[in-house]
Amino acid sequence: MRSSTFFIAFLCALFVVATAGAESPNAKTLLEDAKRNFQPIVAPSAVGDPMAAARVELGRRLFFENRVSMDGNVSCAHCHLPEKQASDGLPKAIGVFGKENPRNAPSIFNAALNFKQHWRGDRESLEDQAEKSLLGPASFGNPDQTTAMGKLKAIPAYAGAFAKAFPDDKDPINSKNWGVAVGAFERTLLTPSKFDAFLAGDASALTSQEQAGLRKFIDLGCVSCHNGAGVGGNSFQKFGVVSDYWKETSVTTPDKGRADVTKNDADLYVFKVASLRNVARTAPYFHDGSVNDLNKAVKIMGKTQLGDDLSDKDAADIVAFLGALTGPVPANYSPPEPYPDAQGK
Ligand code: HEC
Ligand code: HEC
Repeated sequence: MRSSTFFIAFLCALFVVATAGAESPNAKTLLEDAKRNFQPIVAPSAVGDPMAAARVELGRRLFFENRVSMDGNVSCAHCHLPEKQASDGLPKAIGVFGKENPRNAPSIFNAALNFKQHWRGDRESLEDQAEKSLLGPASFGNPDQTTAMGKLKAIPAYAGAFAKAFPDDKDPINSKNWGVAVGAFERTLLTPSKFDAFLAGDASALTSQEQAGLRKFIDLGCVSCHNGAGVGGNSFQKFGVVSDYWKETSVTTPDKGRADVTKNDADLYVFKVASLRNVARTAPYFHDGSVNDLNKAVKIMGKTQLGDDLSDKDAADIVAFLGALTGPVPANYSPPEPYPDAQGK
């Protein structure tokens, strides 16, 4: 090779290195802007404390336990399926005896990051949510907690498992401890994704289209509501800031949102900002599951929340970015071998 050709090749190589991934000034500003708006999810470390470990293990078992529901067929996992990224793929969830819930089942991955639980924030914590699920007429359907706990007490092995998880309690099989154990399990279900690798400083973790989508997500103002570690899940906002949401989603009987919980008109059509972690895998969308397609959901958000008509290109880039929020299903999100019943079956 002649030395001048070599020199040109060398300059080209230098240029490629200088403009690639982490070295590019654009990627750097994007990373800085992203860090101002989002925090990475830190993968939970193994539980060292044996009592805490016993609660997580018991919580996992309870989460997949069908026999505590009124028809014996419904566990938490009935509506939060491992193969559906802990949602259920239905517009509205179906509980005991085929009863339909008023709302869509969100993924519970990363729910530990939410400031309140449920679309309308009517559950204070994971523990509160788990305890009240036992009585939900369209979830477990128990008439009272004594009935629910009686079903657990009828399975002999739970006595030992609860005693190990709650060593100071005389009568550890109670609904409060059910909530604590299930909550302890749910707190392990965090799903870091390649977006977290990006936030940690690896600009090449996101493709150029994903980066373009992130740029638009920030610049258009999606980030004013969807921010933090959950990319949402940390505030209440009106669904339909600029225009009525139900006109865009073609729903005839709009859910009044938090107003039905607080009885305050200021909360009309107010919902918890959805966390967008894993959103590419949790269709259908919105509290009523009224929209099947993520691209359409993104365009509706642009219109109802920001008054923008997003172009096909903008929506596609944002959808690509949202895809980067999908993390792997945690290894412990699977049913353990069920305890035998009193007949040994
Ligand atoms: C019959 C289906 C069904 C069952 C069974 C069920 N869920 Fe849900 N889950 C839902 C629906 C629907 C919602 C949304 C309810 C709402 O917002 O009004 C929800 C919401 C949640 C949330 C809040 C997530 C968020 O982002 O706000 C958590 C956490 C949760 N469920 C955990 C559980 C646990 C734990 C159990 C078992 C004790 C359980 N679920 C059983 C359908 C179900
Ligand atoms: C003013 C606050 C606000 C802004 C701005 C906003 N959102 Fe939302 N977003 C919400 C709320 C509230 C919900 C829950 C709506 C409901 O009740 O179904 C939501 C839900 C969503 C959902 C559905 C999630 C699911 O699991 O069903 C997607 C997707 C979404 N937003 C994307 C975006 C995008 C993309 C933008 C920017 C174009 C954006 N949002 C701007 C508040 C906002």
